[in-house]
Amino acid sequence: MRAARSPYTRTKRFNQSTRLWQGKDHVFSLLSEEEHLARRARMAAGCSGKENLSLESSIDVHIEERIALIRSNNVGFGKPFGDVKADRDLNDYLEAEETGLAVLLQWPTPPAKVMGLSEKGLVSFGRMFATARELVHDRLKRDTSGKSDMFAPSFATRGGGIISDAEARNLTYMQAVIKEGMRVHPPVTTTIGKRVPDRGDTVVINGKLVFLPGGVNDSQATLAVQHNKRVFGEDVADFRQERWLLEKDERKLAEMNRANELNFGYGRYQCLGKSIAMMEIGKTVFEVG
Ligand code: HEM
Repeated sequence: MRAARSPYTRTKRFNQSTRLWQGKDHVFSLLSEEEHLARRARMAAGCSGKENLSLESSIDVHIEERIALIRSNNVGFGKPFGDVKADRDLNDYLEAEETGLAVLLQWPTPPAKVMGLSEKGLVSFGRMFATARELVHDRLKRDTSGKSDMFAPSFATRGGGIISDAEARNLTYMQAVIKEGMRVHPPVTTTIGKRVPDRGDTVVINGKLVFLPGGVNDSQATLAVQHNKRVFGEDVADFRQERWLLEKDERKLAEMNRANELNFGYGRYQCLGKSIAMMEIGKTVFEVG
């Protein structure tokens, strides 16, 4: 359904309602498959360590900041949020996540725009994006020479004391812990539906042929995928990293890995930031651990 040449498409209801500006698309809101593919191809360079040679070193800088933040309860905007000390969501960021996503997922597009996703919206989800946009605009005003990041890939590097991605990926036990963490607590459980093609489709579910009518949305139930007893065994509810290390059956292990990777979606819609995310998680878990 999400494979390269699949006739399934994105949905107006979900993807387009994530637009931040009227009539202006970002990579996730684009409905035209052609435009989406072209935009992905352009962005992939910035997200890849092959073309963006300074990707890892720039991530290290942020990891160092994050580790310092974790150790100091401080933040990267020059002053602490103060949430931990006050034991309150002082800047409404947690509230923004909760209400913003609820508005996005449950409301039809027009009210969702007014309520949540507009930068001047009534809930702070949109305002959170406004802050992010200001930071990006500020970054674009500054000189890019000698500085490298996702906006300006260059050969400039800055090594830190942070573990390298290659080393982190070789730490088999730690990677098993990370996979298990993403299995037990999948980071994205939103139902990012795809539209069944107009002619409908017949699929096999539990050995039975099932007809899906054209125009309906199918979604991936991520939590159910990561807790599928047929794939992971009877002890799915347990956090047991050894399941990734002790499985002798290679086909079974491959099936478990495929299911776990679905956390990032699949095929032409797969998360563009997958390697960045896995790099960041590996480095952070190692440095904090
Ligand atoms: C553990 C962390 C992450 C998880 C689990 C995750 C998961 C996902 C999922 C499920 C999708 C949607 C797939 C679909 O439409 O069917 C997605 C899309 C996307 N993700 Fe991530 N993501 C993560 C981190 C990141 C990071 C760090 C970045 C950027 C650096 C990123 C950038 C994107 C982009 C740009 C898309 C849209 C791709 C497209 O429109 O074709 N993600 N992600």
